[in-house]
Amino acid sequence: MCGIVGYTGHDNARDIIIDGLKKLEYRGYDSAGIALLSKGELIVRKQKGKIVNLEKEIADENLQGTTGIGHTRWATHGVPSDLNAHPHTNEDGTIAIVHNGIVENYMDLRKWLIEEHHVSFRTDTDSEVIAHLISVLNEGNLEDAVLAAVKMMKGAYAFAAISKSEPGKIVAFRKDAPLIAGLGKGCNFIASDIPALLKYLNKIYLIENGELVICTPEQIQILDQQKQPVKRDVLQVTWSLEDAEKEGYEHFMLKEIHEQPKAIRETLMRRLDERGKVKLDGISLTLEDLERFNKIYIVACGTAYHAGLVGKYIIEKMARIPVEVDVASEFRYRDPFVDDKTLFIAISQSGETLDTLAALREAKRKGARVLSVVNVVGSSVARESDDVFYTWAGPEIAVASTKAYTTQLICLYLIGLYMGDLRGTISDSYYHSVLQELKAVPEKVSAIIERANEIEELAKYLYNRDQVFFIGRGTDSAVAYEGSLKLKEVSYINSFAIAAGELKHGTIALMEPETIVIALATQDALFDKMYSNIVEVKARLAHVVSIAKEGNDRIGQESTEVIFIPECIDEVTPLLSVIPLQLFAYYVARERGEDIDKPRNLAKSVTVE
Ligand code: G6P
Repeated sequence: MCGIVGYTGHDNARDIIIDGLKKLEYRGYDSAGIALLSKGELIVRKQKGKIVNLEKEIADENLQGTTGIGHTRWATHGVPSDLNAHPHTNEDGTIAIVHNGIVENYMDLRKWLIEEHHVSFRTDTDSEVIAHLISVLNEGNLEDAVLAAVKMMKGAYAFAAISKSEPGKIVAFRKDAPLIAGLGKGCNFIASDIPALLKYLNKIYLIENGELVICTPEQIQILDQQKQPVKRDVLQVTWSLEDAEKEGYEHFMLKEIHEQPKAIRETLMRRLDERGKVKLDGISLTLEDLERFNKIYIVACGTAYHAGLVGKYIIEKMARIPVEVDVASEFRYRDPFVDDKTLFIAISQSGETLDTLAALREAKRKGARVLSVVNVVGSSVARESDDVFYTWAGPEIAVASTKAYTTQLICLYLIGLYMGDLRGTISDSYYHSVLQELKAVPEKVSAIIERANEIEELAKYLYNRDQVFFIGRGTDSAVAYEGSLKLKEVSYINSFAIAAGELKHGTIALMEPETIVIALATQDALFDKMYSNIVEVKARLAHVVSIAKEGNDRIGQESTEVIFIPECIDEVTPLLSVIPLQLFAYYVARERGEDIDKPRNLAKSVTVE
C-alpha cells in the first residue's frame, strides 16, 4: 500500500526520492508524487499511474532541492487521480505532507477545519486534512504543529511533513503504520520500508507507535508525544541492494521462485544446532508452557493463511495439540475462545498487515501467548509478539508471495517438530527422519525449477482458458488453495480450489469437457481416495493436470498431463508441490502479458482494513 520516502541532505533530493519510491513500487500503488524544498519555494508534482508518468512530467524541469518527500498512493478515499495523489498541501502551499494509512475521523476534522478555519478542500482524500491541521495549528515550528495535529487524529497512519519556512527539516509521525528513519552520511531519510533505502545505507531506526521523528541532514531525533527524547538502538540491516534488484530476471516473481532453495536452506539451518536438533534461540517454549496450551490458533491473511493451513496438519500431527486456522479479518470480529491457555501464532511476511496485527492484539488482550512467523525484522507484528520466529527469505518484492510461503512452512515444521519432541508425541527416529527430509528440500526444489520449461510449455498451451480448478486432499488441499490464489493474483484467471472430497457436494456440477483441473495427488496415504476424485472429473472429460511423486505409475492413467515432484515423505510435499504451481501461475501470466510483479488492484502490504 502507500509508500513514503523522505530525504534531507546535500544532494538532489528529487532523484533520490524517485529512486526510493521505485523500490517501494512492489507495495502496490496507483499514483505518485513528490514535494521539494527548492530555493525558498515548496514545489509539488504528482501524477496518476506509474512513477514513470511522474518522471516524464518532470523530465524537462530542472527541479533542484536538497530536502523533499515522496509518495506512492494506493487509493482508499477518492479515486486514483492527479488531484488525489500525494503530497497534499495547506491552502497557501507552504506545507506538504505524504501519508500512509487512514484518518478515520477525517469527516469531523474536515467539518471543523471548514467551520472554524474556513479551509477549502481540493481533494476527496482523508489525507488532505493533515496538511490543513498542521497549518492551522502551527504556532512556531513544524514538530509542535504535527504533535498538535495527531492529538486530534484517529486511525492508523504514518506521515511526513515539510514546511517552506523550515528548510532542511522533515517531521514524521507514526501510529500503527510502518515508518523507519535511515542514517546516511551527511544526509538522513525516512521511509515506509527498508528496500527504499538499501542503496544509500544499512543503518536504520525503527520508529514506534506514538513517536515523532525530526530529520535534518545532521541528525535524526526521535521524540515521544511529550517531546521527550527516545533512546533507540541502531538496527544494522542485513539485506543487500542485490536482494532488492531483479538481477537479470525478467520479473521479481521469477527471481523469488528461484531464490527458494537458498531461502529455505537459510531458514532451516539457522534453527538447527550442532547436534542437528531444532533450536529456538531466544524463544522460550517450555514443556510447562506446552502442557498449559489447550489450543493453538494460527491467524494470517492471503498466502500466509495458506501456510497456516499446512501448519495445522503438521503441528496437530506432531505435537497433538488442536490447531485452528483463521483468516485475521474473521478472527478478530468473532469473539474467539482465547485465554491464557492459548498459543496464538501469527504469520506475516511483511509483519505490517493490519488485520493480522489487530487479531494479534485481540489475542494478546485476551491473555494468549503470541508467537509470530515474520520475514521483516522489527516489523509491527514482530515487535508486538512475545516471541518471533523469523523467516530468512530476504526482501520479497513481487506482490504474489512465493519464497515467503515456503520459508513460513519451514518455520511451522520446525515448531511442530520442536513441540512434538518436547511433549514426547513423536519418536526420536521420526523427528530425525523429518529433519533429514527437510534438509533435502532445497535440492529437490532446485530440481523442480530446473524443469521449469515443462511447466512453461503447459502454460503456453493453457494460458487462454478462463477458469481453472485446483483439488487435493490433506495438505494437498492446503496447497491447492495457494496454487489457486497464485494463479488468480497474477493471471486474473478465475480459479477455484476445493478439498477433493467436497467435489461431489456441488463443484462437480461445473465440470465440462476440457475444464482444467489441477489435481494434487502427492499424499501416499490418501492416494486411492484422490485417484477416485481424478477419475470422477476425468469421466466428465476434464483436462486433468496431476501433480504426483516420481515413481507413481498409476497417476498417468487418468491424467492428461503429470508434473512429477521428487520422492519425499508425505509430510514435506507442500514444500515441493507448490513450486510447479508458482511457476505455472507465473508463465500463464507472462503468456497473457500481465503486469506480474504488480497485479492490478493488489498491494504487497495491506496496511488498511
Ligand atoms: C497481501 C499480499 C499477499 C499476502 C497477504 C498477507 O494480500 O498481496 O501476497 O499473502 O497480503 O501479507 P503478509 O505480509 O501479512 O504475509
